[in-house]
Amino acid sequence: MDIEVVRKIFAKRFEGRKGNVYFAPGRINLIGEHTDYNGGFVFPGAVTCGIMAEVCPNNTDIIRAYAIDLDDSAQWAVDDAESPQVTWAKYIYGMIREFQALGVKVGGFDVAFAGDVPLGAGMSSSAALEVCFGVALNDLFAGNTITTWQIALAGQATEHKYVGVKCGIMDQFASAFGKKGQLMRLDCNSLEFEYYPFAPVGYKLVLVNTCVKHELVGSPYNDRRCSCERVARAVAAKHTERNINTLRDCTWEDLQEVQAGLSAEDLQRATFVLGEKDRVLAVCEALQRGDYEEVGKQMYLTHEGLSKAYEVSCEELDFLNQVAKACGVTGSRMMGGGFGGCTINLVKDECYDNFVQTAIENFKARYGKAPQIIPVHIGDGGHKVC
Ligand code: GLA
Repeated sequence: MDIEVVRKIFAKRFEGRKGNVYFAPGRINLIGEHTDYNGGFVFPGAVTCGIMAEVCPNNTDIIRAYAIDLDDSAQWAVDDAESPQVTWAKYIYGMIREFQALGVKVGGFDVAFAGDVPLGAGMSSSAALEVCFGVALNDLFAGNTITTWQIALAGQATEHKYVGVKCGIMDQFASAFGKKGQLMRLDCNSLEFEYYPFAPVGYKLVLVNTCVKHELVGSPYNDRRCSCERVARAVAAKHTERNINTLRDCTWEDLQEVQAGLSAEDLQRATFVLGEKDRVLAVCEALQRGDYEEVGKQMYLTHEGLSKAYEVSCEELDFLNQVAKACGVTGSRMMGGGFGGCTINLVKDECYDNFVQTAIENFKARYGKAPQIIPVHIGDGGHKVC
């Protein structure tokens, strides 16, 4: 992203002043989808595209914010009880509120920000925005005393309280903790994580974006979460001797035991989540052996589960998954919350050009427009640029 563009626009808009520049990335996820809010494992990494913001305290109690890409502005007072109406400003408002709840005295500031994470692609531009402001508020108003985990959790709380998406922690975690060239395996129950260097020789990761708008706000995302929670509660009711909070604490036997009392839909969804837990662990082992064929196999299984059992895919994503299979792509699946967005594809070098070309041509023939091809580069988490 071009820092000079952000600087120029900031100066033009805000009386020639100069602030600090902060950046936080979007993310990919190799495997482990819809497992985070079930206390399971995820395998994300930060990407090199994200949100960049120039921020400068203005010695008032007013926030003056400008979204460069949308050419839209918003203004509110630091202690306003009501959040601004415009969606993008709610993320900033929420982060300020969460920082205040942590005891940080946030003052007024001016900000202009821009991004190059495709919106609605399932790459979590919203987490990038949250973490970018988390890093900025931490630096400008908290003397960097807020931890990286607190920033990630403030981002998640912002989604829950101010945007209305009951998301897990994966996206904010990845945007905050990402490291160049490394994926991370996070245990969403204990919040322990490990870095996994990811540079598969002979393979590339590429996203193919359907450009079907992925909109978790008002999508059945929260319904899926409710299904999972109902099943976990049913198991907990049978096993008061155990500490069962999420599906992470449930076994296949537990599921069998309660299945008669569940709706077919809830059972199907819980079956996916338990299977996905096993698949992430299988992928970790495969990565340790350098067995990318196995990684790819698990990715296809995840797609099938997300599409048929969890029902968060869409026709365009299923189509791209089929194209990948037909082209001999090693692994392919829809990525992120679903209902649109992109597929993530693990592709052998010799297969790459043909796959990309075929995906573009076939998708265009079917849907009348080309999908967006996004090569994956694993980058660093949120930080101050200058
Ligand atoms: C969205 C949410 C995440 C996670 C994924 C699905 O990206 O923000 O918390 O649940 O969907 O894996």
